[in-house]
Amino acid sequence: MFEDLQPAAADKILAMMAVYRDDPRPDKIDLGVGVYKDRNGATPVMRAVREAEKRLLNEQQSKTYLGPAGDAAFNTAMIELIFGSDADAGRIRAIQAPGGSGALRLCADLAKRSTPNATVWLSDPTWPNHGQIIRGAGLGTAEYPYFDVQSGSIRFDAMLEALRHANAGDVVLLHGCCHNPTGANLNIDQWRVIADRIVAQNLVPFVDIAYQGFGDGLEADAAGLRVLAQKVPEMIVAASCSKNFAVYRDRVGAALVMAQTSDRAELAVGQMASAARTLYSMPPDHGAAAVRMVLADPALRANWQDELEAMRQRILALRVRFADALRRQSNSDRFDFVARHRGMFSRLGLSETQVERLRAEHGIYMVGDSRINVAGLPEDRMDWLAKAIVSVLG
Ligand code: LMR
Repeated sequence: MFEDLQPAAADKILAMMAVYRDDPRPDKIDLGVGVYKDRNGATPVMRAVREAEKRLLNEQQSKTYLGPAGDAAFNTAMIELIFGSDADAGRIRAIQAPGGSGALRLCADLAKRSTPNATVWLSDPTWPNHGQIIRGAGLGTAEYPYFDVQSGSIRFDAMLEALRHANAGDVVLLHGCCHNPTGANLNIDQWRVIADRIVAQNLVPFVDIAYQGFGDGLEADAAGLRVLAQKVPEMIVAASCSKNFAVYRDRVGAALVMAQTSDRAELAVGQMASAARTLYSMPPDHGAAAVRMVLADPALRANWQDELEAMRQRILALRVRFADALRRQSNSDRFDFVARHRGMFSRLGLSETQVERLRAEHGIYMVGDSRINVAGLPEDRMDWLAKAIVSVLG
């Protein structure tokens, strides 16, 4: 049965992780996959998560099945974390999912089951897995312009203009914060305008929020999503805890739905549970249970928020220092946008050839579209790195 198989297309981000691992150069630099790193290049278990895991080990009496929706208290806590404490929670439901990717797939399956002919509009550029996951659920995709490489800013008018061509019932995927791969984010006025456009054209917002807490803060990073929730009748949300709880390999996320009534929200979450049952039956418990314990315990929650805030501040400081080094080395303001961007990523605007030269000649790894993971920037080698980047500009 396998004789006609062709090799699967490599995932660019994951493939690069492997090449980096095998590179013997001791001074190599990893600006690739989106994981937080501390100043030593480590991605530690967060303090509050570690404590919750210890309690879990001592207190958990059973590992019997919980069901396709996972941990009910985790789901309720995720609604509050994302929609806020004054959300209209009666119209919102959540289902635990295996990471943000699992949540994206459940949301896409729900959209397919609700409006089979809908097109999902993606930002150009977006995270490469978005299109694959959505098309994998059987939906078509289209793109709206988003990022201007020259200025490092958002093409907001072009984005709105493209969305004029969306049909009623189409779905618009928006990055809740910390746009991946660009780091360029909608401001709150732009969120309002987008919300009005969505309502006027009878579209459905689909928000992917995978970096809450890494941009302007936990609450501020959900502000755009909450503006939408005030204005639109229905929305779907894929959330990830991979980064903000640093539970990457434990696969913790949630798919959320806001409907016009509580009954419809219940129907929608039931469809997501049914999709989960056919895809993987039930989500893994351990990481979500630890996240639930952190969110429910005031002391653990405060500890987690402190650590997350320190991570965010470190990224902000790295942005400023890197932009300064690039300004010094290039004698230009070409890369000043790096300091203005928010979240884990910025896209430098280099060609694939330049990115490849950085890898081959200097051991500097970034994704082929010149996306860098800001958390991977080396504090003590900023000018060296900036100099290498300028050297390939040609
Ligand atoms: C990334 O964009 O690097 C992360 O979301 C990790 C991944 O799965 O691609």
